[in-house]
Amino acid sequence: MATLLHLDSSVFAGPASSSRTVTDAFRTAWLEQHPEGTVVYRDLAADPVPHITAEAHLAGFTDPVTHTPEQAAAFAARIALIEELEQADAILIGAPMYNFAIPSTLKAWLDNVILMGRTAGPESRSAEGTPVTVVASRGGSYAPGTPRAGMDHVQNFLEATLRDGLGLDLDFIVPELTMAPQNPAMAELVPLYEASRTKALEDAHRKGKETAARIAA
Ligand SMILES: Cc1cc2nc3c(=O)[nH]c(=O)nc-3n(C[C@H](O)[C@H](O)[C@H](O)COP(=O)(O)O)c2cc1C
Repeated sequence: MATLLHLDSSVFAGPASSSRTVTDAFRTAWLEQHPEGTVVYRDLAADPVPHITAEAHLAGFTDPVTHTPEQAAAFAARIALIEELEQADAILIGAPMYNFAIPSTLKAWLDNVILMGRTAGPESRSAEGTPVTVVASRGGSYAPGTPRAGMDHVQNFLEATLRDGLGLDLDFIVPELTMAPQNPAMAELVPLYEASRTKALEDAHRKGKETAARIAA
């Protein structure tokens, strides 16, 4: 049965969140194609995974029979997250920009699932090729040619980790200028925000269906 792993990391709930609104549209479209499919959902803001610890990190480089009880417990929690990643046919991630980067809760999830010798590394990448769609919402614009181009540390970081590290088939949807309706200094940008939002929702609907079509029912 088709499985979608869906992660959200916005601190805002429901429709108050730009990224959640778009991940919801993608998920709905995906489920229309796979009504019997499974969605494994993690709200990383409401229910964060533990930050990586020395125990959990070092356990990845030593024989499990040598693990202390603390290492074994910490490593088992990592493996549970890794298995969710490996068992997914497609992955959907809401990754709003907070201070030019991804939310720390999403970084914590990545630190857990990137495991050399299993999900990452030259010899084996256990989730290689899985499609991942990232909804990278942001209050401003970091598009080429804009004053803040080059200050986006969301997309380049996720290219390095999800695409180059884990070998996932990475695609972005980028709702931008989302602060325009609230920020009087951005009033002139409201039409561009509205166009970006409309496009993001259309992209989510289309890509949700396209991603679903890549998986046998
Ligand atoms: C803590 C915090 C930091 C933010 N930092 C930035 C930033 O550096 N650049 C930016 O363009 N927008 C920034 N924003 C605005 C968000 O990127 C914007 O509201 C986006 O739509 C968030 O998506 P969400 O509604 O799904 O959380 C920040 C918002 C918060 C809450």
